[in-house]
Amino acid sequence: MLSNQLKLLMIGCLLASSVVTCQDLGEDCVVKSNNRKGVCSYITDCKHVEYEFYHGFPFTSCGTLNGRKVVCCINPKSNQPKPTERTSTTTSGPLRVHKKKCLEYQSAIIESSKFSVGFEQEDIKTQNCLHKQVPLIVGGDNATAGEFPHMALLGYIIEKQVQWKCGGSLISEKFVLTAGHCLESFDFGNVTVVRLGELDYSTDLDKVRPEDINVLRRIPGPGYLGDLRYNDIALIELERIVKFTPSLRPACLPPIDGNYEKFIATGWGVTSFLGKDSTILQKVVLDWFSYDKCFKSYNTGTKELNQGIDSATQFCAGSEKEEKDACQGDSGGPMQIYYEGLYCMYKLIGVTSFGQSCATPGVPGVYTNIYYYLDWIEQTVWNVDLKGTEELLDVRNLK
Ligand SMILES: *[C@@H]1O[C@H](CO)[C@@H](O)[C@H](O)[C@H]1NC(C)=O
Ligand SMILES: *[C@@H]1O[C@H](CO)[C@@H](O)[C@H](O)[C@H]1NC(C)=O
Repeated sequence: MLSNQLKLLMIGCLLASSVVTCQDLGEDCVVKSNNRKGVCSYITDCKHVEYEFYHGFPFTSCGTLNGRKVVCCINPKSNQPKPTERTSTTTSGPLRVHKKKCLEYQSAIIESSKFSVGFEQEDIKTQNCLHKQVPLIVGGDNATAGEFPHMALLGYIIEKQVQWKCGGSLISEKFVLTAGHCLESFDFGNVTVVRLGELDYSTDLDKVRPEDINVLRRIPGPGYLGDLRYNDIALIELERIVKFTPSLRPACLPPIDGNYEKFIATGWGVTSFLGKDSTILQKVVLDWFSYDKCFKSYNTGTKELNQGIDSATQFCAGSEKEEKDACQGDSGGPMQIYYEGLYCMYKLIGVTSFGQSCATPGVPGVYTNIYYYLDWIEQTVWNVDLKGTEELLDVRNLK
């Protein structure tokens, strides 16, 4: 005989849409958008689905039970360890503006299309994530169309022609994050144009639709002095707002000063220290280097680095073994990781600043630690008044 609960579950399934496969609470299921294993749970026990539901993202339903939605959940509350005192006090609190914006920008992967069902038109929303989250073990390789939708090329006018000489990352509708030394170069002058959504800049046949936007404002990071290699960070304000698409949209900023072992560096390799140029966007996985190792590679005697590597604002990464990978990327381009817990988003960790000699295994490149400049970025990009109060949101489940 069917229990009351199961009867109700079956009724819920009949009422739910035809695509729903009916499953019981606690049963294994597969989340359709990313093929990850989940467990059927009440939607209120599932942070990620609550989020998806709230923002109109598709989610995988298991049916309804007792009038409550049952969904396929990757990490339901009942499976989670209780937060310890320390983590709950250090990670909850007001959600910073960059994090709020990041959640907002995630909706750029949603595409709407009209679909006719008989006489009715239905608005179908589909997620269009153009990159898979792959284990960070790959060597250098060509990126694919839309895989790094925040990547920017910075252009300088040389003999009336635009030349792409630095990289950058789109972080809002109007701002690109780059290195301080990319704003103005002795040889090429000021950066004047930014190209977004590009894959291979030698051809128009690469299935992407890049956009060139003029630079409105060049804003060096706080403390950046052109002749020293510290605070090598900058923002570029674009002349107009960018319309986001799944293949052209911002990356997120780092919410914590985390310890990361591996990063993905991306760029066209267009600046001198970064080795061979490629007209196709390149990606490479690099390892974090300890400060000890980094100090050894960069002694303090040089004029431009008179205080050595600064462990608060700079970090080092590279490749111990493979020569070819030791120094790819671009000045101003991003050092990023996949955003754990935030579907289809990247988290920027560093800005490529400088290197020593290219293709020398064991010699790391130096990156500006973005986390250190968050206040300045938020003030400049989103006009945050740091003394003002922000809307309070619980961020315990958002890393
Ligand atoms: C990258 O693409 C180019 C042009 O299509 C090709 O010649 C090259 O072999 C590719 N590189 C890799 C590592 O696949
Ligand atoms: C670059 O822009 C600055 C103002 O932001 C200006 O003073 C400088 O002359 C420009 N440099 C070149 C080479 O045009």
